[in-house]
Amino acid sequence: MQYRTLGKTGFKVSEVSLGTWQLGSKWGDPFSDTDARETLEAAYDAGVNFFDTADIYQDGASEKAIGQFLKGKEDKVHVSTKIGRKLDPHVAEGYTPANIDKFVDECLTNMGVDSLDNVLLHCPPTGVYYNPEVWFELDRLKQAGKIQNYGVSVEKIEEAIKALDYNISTVEIIFNMFRLKPADLFFKLAKVQNVGILARVPLASGLLSGKYTANTEFGKNDHRSYNRDGSAFDKGETFSGVDYLTGVKAADELKARLGTDNLAQTALRWILMFDAVSTVIPGASKASQIARNVDAADAPALTEAQMAIVQDVYSKYIKNPVEYLW
Ligand SMILES: NC(=O)c1ccc[n+]([C@@H]2O[C@H](COP(=O)([O-])OP(=O)(O)OC[C@H]3O[C@@H](n4cnc5c(N)ncnc54)[C@H](OP(=O)(O)O)[C@@H]3O)[C@@H](O)[C@H]2O)c1
Repeated sequence: MQYRTLGKTGFKVSEVSLGTWQLGSKWGDPFSDTDARETLEAAYDAGVNFFDTADIYQDGASEKAIGQFLKGKEDKVHVSTKIGRKLDPHVAEGYTPANIDKFVDECLTNMGVDSLDNVLLHCPPTGVYYNPEVWFELDRLKQAGKIQNYGVSVEKIEEAIKALDYNISTVEIIFNMFRLKPADLFFKLAKVQNVGILARVPLASGLLSGKYTANTEFGKNDHRSYNRDGSAFDKGETFSGVDYLTGVKAADELKARLGTDNLAQTALRWILMFDAVSTVIPGASKASQIARNVDAADAPALTEAQMAIVQDVYSKYIKNPVEYLW
């Protein structure tokens, strides 16, 4: 495993870390305690020292599983959690200092800790980016020691850029072979301000493993069945917003032209080619996927020709239909 500095946090984090949305329920049946423990153990054993979670992943169960798992562990694991999505309706007006304090307290309780390493606003409505009171409250919580760092998980590039007006340490953003836009401007600006970047949905919800076909079926409680059109939440979170069949075709072409039988690993290594990225946070449906994903940190760099192939496939299949959305 290789490690990079996570922006202003100063944390040295594993280049390949772990997303734990799968320890929640939007991918079908809830994970059992055993599944959760095995997943976290596989990551920890492989040198992963950064877990990404959220208060709403299975109503706090992901945070609780992480908190329990980390009790008594010798090596420090940094945990980044997210707040805000418990609001119902999820509107900018709900992001009051009192609600933020309450959500942070609930995360502390779920994980059984006195202070949160990093807390992100969870893809808040655009109005939140123009309400300094929200960000000042996060500063106050930092001064009080309840949180050590804060930042935001964003949907859009312009939101990520606007968030740089505040004292953020980190931004979580979708970045993968089907989502190239963050590298154009945002990465440069984030680097200047020493803001750490967490690359989420790195495998486009699994499409970039290259294992799906036109006939693959997903469970009815899996967001890859019910959120392809964005009817439950932002459609960019499901297959990176790419039409499923187009994505299968593009992934097949990437496999063939890059000459890889392990596209997942190549897709993660491709992300690590960008030095603005601090860590990539693939999710895993089974512990066995983690070992393959962490190997990406030690895989050889992509060649210039391979980088150009990714750009070419993106321009051919993905750019026009979706790039303008985010
Ligand atoms: N709004 C937000 O802030 C937000 C939104 C989305 C995600 N996230 C975070 O980002 C993390 C990563 O995103 P994600 O989990 O949505 O998508 P992802 O990492 O792009 O894809 C995860 C899926 O890829 C497949 N996969 C993983 N490793 C594989 C391997 N080695 N070989 C073959 N298939 C593999 C698995 O699919 P199968 O189930 O088919 O095996 C897994 O469920 C999440 O876990 C979460 O922590 C945050």
